[in-house]
Parts: sequence; C-alpha cells; structure tokens
Amino acid sequence: EKGGYKHYMAKEIAQQPTVVGEVLEAYVSGDQITMDMGGINFADVDRLSIVACGTAYYAGLVAKYWFEHYARLPVDIDVASEFRYREAPFAPKTIGLFVSQSGETADTLAALRYSAGKVDKIVALINVPESSIARESDVAVEIHAGVEVSVASTKAFTCQLTSFAVMALKAGHDRGHLDDAGLAKHLSELRQLPGLMSHALTIDAATKAIASKLAEARDVLFLGRGQMFPLALEGALKLKEISYIHAEGYASGELKHGPIALVDKVTPTVVMAPHDGLFDKTVSNMQEVMARGGRVVLVSDARAAEEAGDGVWQTLAMPEAPELIQPILYAIPAQLLAYHTAIAKGTDVDQPRNLAKSVTVE
Ligand code: F6R
Repeated sequence: EKGGYKHYMAKEIAQQPTVVGEVLEAYVSGDQITMDMGGINFADVDRLSIVACGTAYYAGLVAKYWFEHYARLPVDIDVASEFRYREAPFAPKTIGLFVSQSGETADTLAALRYSAGKVDKIVALINVPESSIARESDVAVEIHAGVEVSVASTKAFTCQLTSFAVMALKAGHDRGHLDDAGLAKHLSELRQLPGLMSHALTIDAATKAIASKLAEARDVLFLGRGQMFPLALEGALKLKEISYIHAEGYASGELKHGPIALVDKVTPTVVMAPHDGLFDKTVSNMQEVMARGGRVVLVSDARAAEEAGDGVWQTLAMPEAPELIQPILYAIPAQLLAYHTAIAKGTDVDQPRNLAKSVTVE
C-alpha cells in the first residue's frame, strides 16, 4: 500500500531514513561490526570481483572506492552482461560479490554461476532471502530494504550502499588499515545517516522548483568526481528511466574529453559536489560549463555553495556530512530530481514504459 503517498516511489524515497537505520541495527553494535559473512576474514582476500546490473552496479561502483580507500583491497567491477563473456582471468584469493535487489536478474545469476568454482567464495548482497541469487551463493548478506515496488530503485540503492559501507569498514579493520579508534569513528559517521537523510528529504520543495525547469530540457548532464562519480551515473539513470529525458552521467574530469560539446544555453548540468578534498577541481569544471553559457544545478552544502561563487543557475542545499556517507546522502537529491521531473512531465512514475522490476531474460 502507498500509505498516503501518490506513488510507491515517493513512499520508498521517504522510507530511507528508517530502512537505512535498520541496516545499521542489523550490522553494527556500538563500536563493533556484527555483519556475519560466513567467517570471511578480509585479511585472507586479495581481490574482490563485484558484478551487478543497473543501479545495483552503481552501488558496487561506490563500494569500489570505499574498499580501495578504507581497506586497500583491489576491486574489479563489471556489469553482469559483460562479465560473463570477457573471460577475465581469476586471480587467487578472489571473492565474487554479486549485487541484486530482486535476486532474480538473469545476467547477474548467470555471472554468479559462471564464477562458481573459479573464485574462493560467492557472496551475494540481496534484498530477497529466498531468491535464486541468495540461494546459490555461499554467503548471502541482506540489505534489509523491505519490499521495493516502484520499478525505479531507490531505497534498495541506499541500503546496498549502507551495507557495503559496513563491509568495507570490516575489510579495513580485518586488514589492519583501520584500528579500533578509526573503525569507531567511521561507525559513528554511519550512525548520522538516518538523521541526515531526514534532513536531506526536506529539500523536496526546492527540488520540485528545479524539476519544473529540468522538465523542459531535452538533455541533462550529471557530473561527479571520485566516490560521487557513480552518483552522477545514478542521477542520470533515474532521470531517463522515469522522465524519459536523455541524461548522461560523467566523471567531472572527463567533461572536456567530449561531453562539453553538448553544453549550450538550454542544457542543464547537475553537479553532485559535496565539500570534499576534490571540491576545487569540481569548481573549475563547473566554471568551464558556465563559461559556455551552460546552466549549472549545484547539489552541495552551504559551505561549498559559497566557495563556488556566482554564476550557478540553481543550488540545492544539502546538510554537511562526513565524507564516507556523502554518496548515500546524495542519492536523495538524485531521486527527488528525477521524481519531480517525471511528475512535471506527467509520466507513469512507478511503471515507466518498457521496463520491468525484475529482468529475468538475458
Ligand atoms: C534502476 C533499476 C535497475 C535495477 C537493475 C538490477 O532504477 O531499478 O537498473 O537496478 O535491473 O536489478 P536487481 O538489483 O534486481 O538485480
């Protein structure tokens, strides 16, 4: 049931502070991680091979940044439909990690079967414990998002990310890159998520105003750098899925290697840029867009918005947040921009054309 919301998507966006809180409840207790991974100790692992499709793939892409940064653990990541056929050599001490909300995505399941026997362990990050992908894995880690009805994935994405954050911190601790104090610090950052997500949901009205303008665009660019790059991809995917506006996500630094040719006076560029160590570089990418008459929608916190200076077309003000949780928090503006743009265009938000909730053909 929609419980007073106009669409399942709106309800599922609003549920995120609660369900993310439930993920933390399931996997963190005080300063300790309680996530049971069937006895896996990441000190004995040399490589992770993450495989998924669509939004689940973007969650894996954020996780790659985290595992490499917090645990110094190398990560390969592929979309499932490519992974199976490129005949990648498997290195010893590799864990195969398959991410799927439905647990029934045909390509992801086929990639899992292909990897069985070739990797040390098959781990699945899933939302449906009785699904095929959960059943065929050695270790199934639940994301605790609850039933997701809307075709466009929202709360499953943030629950995948939160579960991955815990897993990356466990890996960092197992591998000796995070000591007890470091782990405790990052766990307390994760605990800020439900509160900060509730705060981020209050940008709903501001998002609606910007979305009414995005609805007139033919193309929209999304930019992000570092761990925010996958959020640019996710923002673009969500927008095309439900509003049918052509959108592309790029790593900010790739702008001048091609996509800047798309920038003109009517093409909005959404920049997902919390204040972080790379912010100055992002500002210069934004200035390149503005110098060509492009309209920049800056999604950022107050401090960064001030540093960005004049010339920004629209700003969405997010709460300041520790770096670790920024990609999780910024899923909310990505989702709300797509949602309100779709409403402004009058499309079928929960059942977009040509799409199915579970893709069971390859
Ligand atoms: C996007 C979306 C899809 C799914 C993809 C994988 O909003 O919902 O891109 O993320 O089809 O689905 P699962 O996670 O069920 O394997």
